[in-house]
Parts: sequence; structure tokens; C-alpha cells
Amino acid sequence: MLADKRILLIIGGGIAAFKSLDLIRRLRERGAHVTPVLTRAGSEFVTPLSVSALAGEKLYQDLFDLTAEAEMGHIELSRAADLVVVAPATADLMGKMAAGLANDLASTLLMATDKRVLIAPSMNVRMWEHPATQRNLATLKEDGVLCVGPTEGDMACGEFGYGRLAEPMDIVAAIDAALSDGPMKGKHVLVTSGPTHEPIDPVRYIANRSSGAQGTAIARALAALGADVTFVTGPADVAPPSNVRVVKVQTAAEMLDAVMAAPAADAAVFAAAVADWHVANAGPSKIKKDGNGLPELRFAENPDILATVSQLTKGRPKLVVGFAAETDDVIANATAKRLRKGCDWIVANDVSPATGIMGGAENDVTLITADGSEDWPRMGKDEVATRLAQQIADALL
Ligand code: CTP
Repeated sequence: MLADKRILLIIGGGIAAFKSLDLIRRLRERGAHVTPVLTRAGSEFVTPLSVSALAGEKLYQDLFDLTAEAEMGHIELSRAADLVVVAPATADLMGKMAAGLANDLASTLLMATDKRVLIAPSMNVRMWEHPATQRNLATLKEDGVLCVGPTEGDMACGEFGYGRLAEPMDIVAAIDAALSDGPMKGKHVLVTSGPTHEPIDPVRYIANRSSGAQGTAIARALAALGADVTFVTGPADVAPPSNVRVVKVQTAAEMLDAVMAAPAADAAVFAAAVADWHVANAGPSKIKKDGNGLPELRFAENPDILATVSQLTKGRPKLVVGFAAETDDVIANATAKRLRKGCDWIVANDVSPATGIMGGAENDVTLITADGSEDWPRMGKDEVATRLAQQIADALL
């Protein structure tokens, strides 16, 4: 799988940098080409000569190395690779990546690349557990950056805990997975996500509560399996994944238009919390408290996007998945909703305030299909997404 793949390997400055030499060796054994980049701090731990000798390629170190610019500019360097790997990824490098800084060769390459990036973090356990590092990690994951490790164990600094660089063979496996096609290669999946905002006037709106976290995680998980994803999102709290086609909308009507305009899909997942009504008498200017009593809003029903797509006679996706966020009689309501809307699967969940699911990191779902229902244990929204994406992949086989 790795034969003839080009890896741009950025070696950060950490005690684990010596393991990058073994990583280079193992990648080359498998036929990969490794173009090494050594940060200034990295060169305190491994010598430029040993890195370039093992890689068998020119080593890049300095952004302002004019000879290198004459041979290959940093933009080109960042794009010639199939995958960019950062090992070890130090707290400093992760911070730069999350903040979007580009003040040396490594950080500039990471900003300029249009390829996937895999990081293998390594640092002291306190640094790893620091809220700033965890915040940066969450940001990087949201940006679609892949991560392997760190693992738990004794550290060079004498402490014990998480922070050890993943073993070179685990990094090789993660590189292999990142470069493999995945079971959804060649499939197009449409995902709706987030709330819709229905204007009352130019400054006010009605909406459903939704962070967009579950829909975003599903789009990311499908893309990780190799799917081409069109992600139609209302104004969500979380950033959309970076490796999907994003279409931003505000209202249910706009969401329907975007869904209908999307290329034909093999599967569609409707995770959006679409407002059921819009304000029919929404005003073009701000409603004022002018002493003439309270404004009267007239509601009109929004199009049901899930039902519209489920009932298409031409161009219906092979698999249509809806969501049913309920507060009472979850299974009975969701089962009836599946039949009423005409979708194939419904992911049902209880969103009563006591569950903490709305806006939280976890979800507790039941998957309802024509064959019955499957109760999943409560798990992280990312895990729900991974499991659902895998089942969608299996169904499309
Ligand atoms: N949905 C949609 N378009 C709408 C309303 C809902 O596509 N106008 C989709 C949602 O994305 C979700 C499913 O339909 O996949 C169920 O949404 P939900 O709000 O639970 O259902 P409603 O049809 O609004 O039913 P009710 O309000 O009666 O529970």
C-alpha cells in the first residue's frame, strides 16, 4: 500500500525525535519515499546528516534557504507529498498548527499543504494534559488532522503517563490507513447538519437547538472512509470538517434547495434540526416596540427535506437515513416517523434536558430499520458517527 507513496515527514524537537529515524527506515522498507523536514529544535535531537542519509533524499530545514527555493518552493514541497506526517509533533508545533502560524519552514508547509496531515504527538504528560494542548488537539481534529498516539508509559523526563510517541510501526499503520482508499471510495454521500434559522425580521429568528456536533462528526467519519461528502449545514456552533464539500445555508427553504442542487448521492443522512415553521409575515425591517401592542407572527410550514428526498421517484439515494430527536415515547415516535417520512433508517435519540445530549459530547441512540431496532450503548458523538458510517458503508456494498 505504501509503495511509491511520497511522505513529507516533519520532525519536531523532542526527545522522541530519534524514533523518527526508525520510522524513516520502516517507511522506505515498504517502498515509500520520505522527504524529511527538520525543525531547528529537532536538529538538537537528531543530526541533519543521519536524517538525510536514512531518507536518501535532500533534507529541508530553512524557509529562507534560497537554494531550496530555486530547486523547489515551499508551496510545491508541501503539495508534492501524498501525506504530511509530523513525528514527533511537539506541543509547540501543535499550537502553531491550531493557531495557523507560519513562521518557519515546518509551520509554513503545514499551512500551505492541500494534503491530509497526520500528527504523532509526543511530550511530557503534564504538557499533554494541559488544557491548551487538549484545546489545540480538538481544533486540529475539527480541521481534519489525523492523530496517532501518544501512548502511556515511562518518559525520558522520569514521569509516567500519556505523552510517549506512538511506536514507529503504529505510525506506519496510521500512515497506511490514511493513504488507503477506504470502503466508501467513489461513493457520494449528502449530510445535512445544524439548525436552520427562520427570520422574524432582519435581526431576529426562530430556530431549533442544535450544535451541529453529531452531523459534523458523521460527515467527518464518512469522509474518513473515503466518501465524497456534500455537507449542507445551517448556522452550527462547531466548524465543518475540512475534507468535505461545505454548503452553508440559513433557512429550511435554502437547505432544501441546496440538497436538491447537490449531485446525485448514493446515501443521504439528515442530521439537521430543521425548524418546522417559518414566519410567513417576516418583515423587511426591524419590528419596533411602538406601543401598538405585541407583534403577531403568522407561521407557515417548512418543506420536509427528509420526506421530500425519501419519496423521490427519480434519483432517490439508495439509502436515506433520518434522525428522530424525541422527548417522549422515543422508539414508538421514531418508528412511526420512519414510516411516515419514507426513509430507510432512523437514528432515534432521547433529547430530554436531563439526558444532557443536546449540546453535549455524548449520544444514546437506537437505530431503527425495516428489520427492527438496535439499541446502541451511550457513547461519544464521534463514536456514534464512526459506527453509523461503517454501517452505511456495509449497506452500500
Ligand atoms: N427534517 C427535515 N426537514 C424538516 C423537518 C425535519 O429534513 N422540515 C428531518 C430531520 O433532519 C430529521 C428528521 O426529519 O432527520 C426528523 O426530524 P424531527 O424534527 O424529529 O421530525 P419532525 O418531522 O419535525 O417531527 P415532529 O416535529 O413531529 O417530531
